Amino acid sequence: MQDLLSALLSKAQQELPQLNTRPEFEAAKARYVGPNGELTALMKQMGSVPKEQRPVLGKAINEIKVQLQSLLDGSLSRIDSLELEKQLGPAIDPTLPSPDPFPGTRHPLTLVREEMCRILTRVGFTVVEGPEVETEYYCFDALNTPADHPARDAQDTFYFRDSAHFGNVLKKTAEEKYLLRTHTSSVQIRTMLSRQPPIRIVSPGRVYRRDTTDATHSANFHQLECLYVDKNVTVRDLKALLDYIFASLLGKDTKTRFRPHYFGYTEPSFEVDLSAKHLAKVNKEWIEIGGCGMVDPTVFDGVGYDSKIWSGYAFGMGLERLAMLLYGIDDIRYFYQNDLRFLRQFA
Ligand code: DAH
Repeated sequence: MQDLLSALLSKAQQELPQLNTRPEFEAAKARYVGPNGELTALMKQMGSVPKEQRPVLGKAINEIKVQLQSLLDGSLSRIDSLELEKQLGPAIDPTLPSPDPFPGTRHPLTLVREEMCRILTRVGFTVVEGPEVETEYYCFDALNTPADHPARDAQDTFYFRDSAHFGNVLKKTAEEKYLLRTHTSSVQIRTMLSRQPPIRIVSPGRVYRRDTTDATHSANFHQLECLYVDKNVTVRDLKALLDYIFASLLGKDTKTRFRPHYFGYTEPSFEVDLSAKHLAKVNKEWIEIGGCGMVDPTVFDGVGYDSKIWSGYAFGMGLERLAMLLYGIDDIRYFYQNDLRFLRQFA
């Protein structure tokens, strides 16, 4: 009897790990442990075994049963994974490094945007965003831009012919026209209408103008806007912040200068120039980088801030131009062509 049991076990040890399909497994299982199986048959013979041998034999049978069961379990899980493999194709090891040698890099404009936001959040600015579809109110009226200003011309700005489907989400007045924002300055108004001073925000984003594309122009580009509102803010604070920003981004040898200019929403207003001779491709002495000024009291009055108490500065600049300076890129079109040979240089 013992011999028969051992023979049964070694047969199972041979056979069960070789099974490849579920029907084969079911048949083998029935053959070994089923009601008409070999083990059952052996157990039935227990009756004819002398009484004193039964406990030993019973124990042996139980052990074989346990071993058969674990052989069956092993066989079944092997068949399970064979079936899964068949469904999924060849096995993969998800812990191995990706076979793709290029894991992807961030776009140079993203890098510059993130770095500028990092520089500004370090000195207390909060990042906010505004919509790209705007109304004339936020883009022009509230920024004290007269109705006949050239920026409002259909030659310069993309207007929506039918604005009905925008609903009332952005509207300030009923007969408002919608447009693609021409600058991020609209976010100044949105912020001031939804918060109370003091305010310190930076708002990066996409802007649109009817420009013909060439090496330095694109109908769609990016700006970064800052607004600071507090008590006793002066031009000195504005200049100090701009010096800090550009030295942080482009290196401490970077210089800034203000040239008087006109913007409806700031008084006085300036254009900001940069000099960064240590950077490649900066061959001109000064490069214009953006506009700025002290927030015009008219703008404060329009958003309900008391212009006798509050003062502030604002500025806006082009992100493309900054990235071109920083990385020595001489054509704005590279940013939008999705050429991986270009993009992979900015890891
Ligand atoms: N919005 C201006 C532009 O698009 C830039 C600018 C000028 C932003 C003066 C400002 C500012 O915040 O105060 O060219």
